[in-house]
Amino acid sequence: MNLTLSDAKALSNDLVKFNVPVGTEVILGVPHPYLAQINDIVNGNVGISVAAQNCHEKESGAYTGEVSTAMLKSIGIHTVILGHSERRQYQKESNELLAEKTKTALAAGFKVIFCCGESLMTRESGKHFVFVEEQIKQSLFDLEASAWANIVIAYEPIWAIGTGVTASPDQAQEIHAHIRKLLTEKYGTEIAEATSILYGGSVKPANAKELFTNKDIDGGLVGGASLKAADFAAIINSF
Ligand code: PGA
Repeated sequence: MNLTLSDAKALSNDLVKFNVPVGTEVILGVPHPYLAQINDIVNGNVGISVAAQNCHEKESGAYTGEVSTAMLKSIGIHTVILGHSERRQYQKESNELLAEKTKTALAAGFKVIFCCGESLMTRESGKHFVFVEEQIKQSLFDLEASAWANIVIAYEPIWAIGTGVTASPDQAQEIHAHIRKLLTEKYGTEIAEATSILYGGSVKPANAKELFTNKDIDGGLVGGASLKAADFAAIINSF
């Protein structure tokens, strides 16, 4: 819930001037009211596209205030972030609900950026591997293997989001490798290797390179630092 329309337009206009390095994909997660306008700015620029930050689990109906995949599609949006920790926390989105949302989005032809990650309490109790494993298994492991072509996982430890505290590259790599292992066991090496696993939580220009050089960290889900074009560009460039 950051930036007004004019701020968001200015930021997107700055970002499209930036040449996205070949092989890198930039997806702007935009609030619903501005999706169409920002999509117009971004459209046609190589390597940059736009995603919604949420969608409803039902295809349509009397759900006042909610946004469906059909609505998003009708304005040219085909990617959605699901299960961000803030939605899990404040909107009480459960693993079961996120399984439904994911199925609905995939059936509508969307690419899903699925967020997972543990709280500080869970990490301190040493249960973070099991916790993240359950999030992924309960929401995603009913899917057919073919669905994985349209899924990106974002591991975001809650204690690192918006706090300035970043997971160390080793902490992030260790859990990313664990997620990849789960995917290998369930869906095989090919799918596990082809699935992007992003790290999120206080990614900034100063730590991006160190995080992204790890074998199993394929990208970032960037919050605060994406609100400044120069910082975001520096993070993109660190690939
Ligand atoms: P942050 O946010 O980069 O500001 O920690 C990450 C996020 O919102 O997922």
